[in-house]
Amino acid sequence: MIWTIILLIQAGLLYFVLTHRKRYKTDPPLDKGVIPWLGHAFEFGKDAFKFLGRMKMKHGDIFTVRVAGRYVTVLLDPFSYDLVLNDKNCLDFSRYAALLMDRIFQLQLPHHMQNKSKAIMKQHFLGMNLSSLNTSMGRHLHNLVKAELSLNQKDWKEEGLFNFSYGLLFKAGYLTLFGDEQNNNSMDLSKIYKEYMKFDGLLIKLARGTLKPEEKKLAQCVRQNLCELLSPVGIKEDSGLGSWVHTYRRLLQDVGADRDTQNKALLMQLWASQGNAGPAAFWLLGFLLTNPDAMAAVKKEFSGISQTSDTCLLTVKTPVFDSALEETLRLTAAPFITREVVREKTIHMADGQEYLLRKGDRVCLFPLLSPQMDPEIHSEPQKFKHDRFLNQDGSPKMDFYKRGRKLKYYTMPWGAGTNGCVGKRLAINTIRQFVYMVLTKCDLELCDPNAQMPEVNTSRYGFGVLQPEGELYIRYKLKQTMKDNE
Ligand code: HEM
Repeated sequence: MIWTIILLIQAGLLYFVLTHRKRYKTDPPLDKGVIPWLGHAFEFGKDAFKFLGRMKMKHGDIFTVRVAGRYVTVLLDPFSYDLVLNDKNCLDFSRYAALLMDRIFQLQLPHHMQNKSKAIMKQHFLGMNLSSLNTSMGRHLHNLVKAELSLNQKDWKEEGLFNFSYGLLFKAGYLTLFGDEQNNNSMDLSKIYKEYMKFDGLLIKLARGTLKPEEKKLAQCVRQNLCELLSPVGIKEDSGLGSWVHTYRRLLQDVGADRDTQNKALLMQLWASQGNAGPAAFWLLGFLLTNPDAMAAVKKEFSGISQTSDTCLLTVKTPVFDSALEETLRLTAAPFITREVVREKTIHMADGQEYLLRKGDRVCLFPLLSPQMDPEIHSEPQKFKHDRFLNQDGSPKMDFYKRGRKLKYYTMPWGAGTNGCVGKRLAINTIRQFVYMVLTKCDLELCDPNAQMPEVNTSRYGFGVLQPEGELYIRYKLKQTMKDNE
């Protein structure tokens, strides 16, 4: 008995030594929460926007919270974001990314592969190659939308807008980046989408390590199925320059990754490339359908585009659409930009205060809270205003201010700096082509004309573009004028 008590006391002391943390004068405000070790993990995971908003009210633009044994310094001052985004010496992107990669995809890749893999992405997703990707995306979108509409020549088809948008964009994106002439079979495509959606539904719990035993089994099974479906992708040498997926597969082989690791790496890329555009297209179409003025303005702009001149819209200027998309992403793009502190770093805040970031902690920016939803920067920030990013003369608006000072980051859906989004141009053009096709080729309306936008799934804050809780039901059919032209 006495030994049990001594052991318990020792364990208690060890626990205290390991988890105790005192705030020094140089530290940001510290909020450990009341639950030992877990700290604020529960509140953070349930609704990070609400929790971090509460912490901002309590502590200001910088504070450190304890979350599941880790100390995370949250920085919410957009004037100081560059201090984090541009520092590769003290702040590391890859460690936290590797942790998520392992948790979600059970994937471990050699550290040195990261730079090469990014160079390949830049080579294929930017510059000259981007236009051929855009053309291919346009072709696949056209065929998919046409196939969908040919089934509904006369009658309205009812569907959830989220499934409609995510499904079509996923399939077009898959065919463009992962497909070849052999594996374009539509049965496989629907099967891959179905499995992918099951995986996407488990993703947040996978990232947090909070799956229940039966969900763990399901995740294992879905991951396995997806890996098998992806197994033939990028294997065959193709002609010409070589597709991105083929070059990426070859890099994996060169660093000695076995077949299973290669397939898991492709699954990770599938999620990175397809996880955000579909949900973004959903929110945009949803906001347009529930805001008739915005819909009329975008349709008016699209009606001025000659259908024969440029089907991929590459050379067409669409400032109204661009503003509506920027506004959509301001409201729904919610990534955490997380870095691990590998060397002590002093942060000089815009208000003149200085704080020390401690080695071993994480630092996290949450642009959704500021600048995107900051009422000092954007008036009525909860409201969708399609022309928020337009000047009076119709040109793109880029001047936004906080406390009288002009902001570099007034919205930040794509991240920024060295690890900013490589697929930004492709994603914007894909969403634009999709919305253009849907609005010019279909009659599209809400099933319930008074329907409101669904709430967001609050557990997904921190993981890119948000997803809705529930659906927004639409009906659509081929436009009469299109039928006459067929
Ligand atoms: C609406 C669509 C998209 C949004 C909102 C989005 C957002 C982001 C954000 C915020 C980051 C930065 C993460 C950080 O700094 O921690 C990022 C990184 C990245 N994105 Fe996107 N993305 C989108 C579409 C795409 C597409 C279509 C691709 C590829 C075809 C892509 C590929 C990547 C890659 C590879 C990175 C990592 C860059 C690095 O390692 O430095 N994204 N994206």
